[in-house]
Amino acid sequence: MAKLIFLKDKKTVGTILYRSFVGILTIIKIMSTNKTLTMIKPTAYKNNCAGKIIEKIYEGGFHIAAMKLTKLSKEDAQKFYEVHAGRPFYDELVDFMSSGPIIAAVLEKENAVEEYRNLIGATNPAEAADGTIRKMCGTNIGENAVHGSDSDENAEIESNFFFSGRERY
Ligand code: CMP
Repeated sequence: MAKLIFLKDKKTVGTILYRSFVGILTIIKIMSTNKTLTMIKPTAYKNNCAGKIIEKIYEGGFHIAAMKLTKLSKEDAQKFYEVHAGRPFYDELVDFMSSGPIIAAVLEKENAVEEYRNLIGATNPAEAADGTIRKMCGTNIGENAVHGSDSDENAEIESNFFFSGRERY
């Protein structure tokens, strides 16, 4: 009898462990593949390009989970772009990104990072394909209309940089 209960418990524990594992995998998948962080950069905002960019985002099938008009301090911009610290364009990038209002947004779609990078086009607007956001609204490689996360890991970090859980829908 005791042996039977032990076996049953073992089965129950196995089921719980299996379900937890599947649950964790599902959470990791939701966290990792469906989200990207964008900023509409100061020049694009100043040139009234935000409306056109948001339209492109919707046309691209993204859900806007969070969005705000804000302005980065110099320290904010340094922190956001700290992966580029030491590169020749870093100081210019920080000065530019803290020079005026920006719109930050969390976008959701399956495979969001890659899909959004396709939608925005090459870093340098001069090399961006026709129909992309950077081609449409970018000025030069620094003032290239929008930022898009370059990995799932950075999408998570960058989304948390701007938004709390209560600001996402
Ligand atoms: P973004 O997607 O915001 O990520 C880093 C930014 O650095 C990039 O867009 C460009 O605006 C900027 N950047 C990258 N390379 C250069 C460069 N060679 N000169 C100036 N700015 C650059």
